Amino acid sequence: MPKITYITFDGNEHVIEAPVGTTVMENAIKHSVPGIEAECGGACACATCHVYVDDAFKEITGEPEPMEEDMLDFAFEVRPNSRLSCQIKVTPEMDGLIVRIPERQA
Ligand code: FES
Repeated sequence: MPKITYITFDGNEHVIEAPVGTTVMENAIKHSVPGIEAECGGACACATCHVYVDDAFKEITGEPEPMEEDMLDFAFEVRPNSRLSCQIKVTPEMDGLIVRIPERQA
């Protein structure tokens, strides 16, 4: 199962085994990773599941869809590697994925 490392703003690492087909957000919520709120439950309607994708995985996770792009406008401190984690579906290629969680959500 692909392993995802979530690094919280204070530098703590949470390594989670994420089933293929689930989202990066769902795994964070299931394992109570602090800093991801996901208020809308994954509907791409809240921007409180914002993460920074490690540069090495930017290509594998892909670019945000236009709807996600619009929602990201509401996120805190958006960077070129910002994504909404509910819109990243885990694939086998994502084994080792690293995402960083911003200081706060929207
Ligand atoms: Fe609301 Fe991702 S959980 S946008």
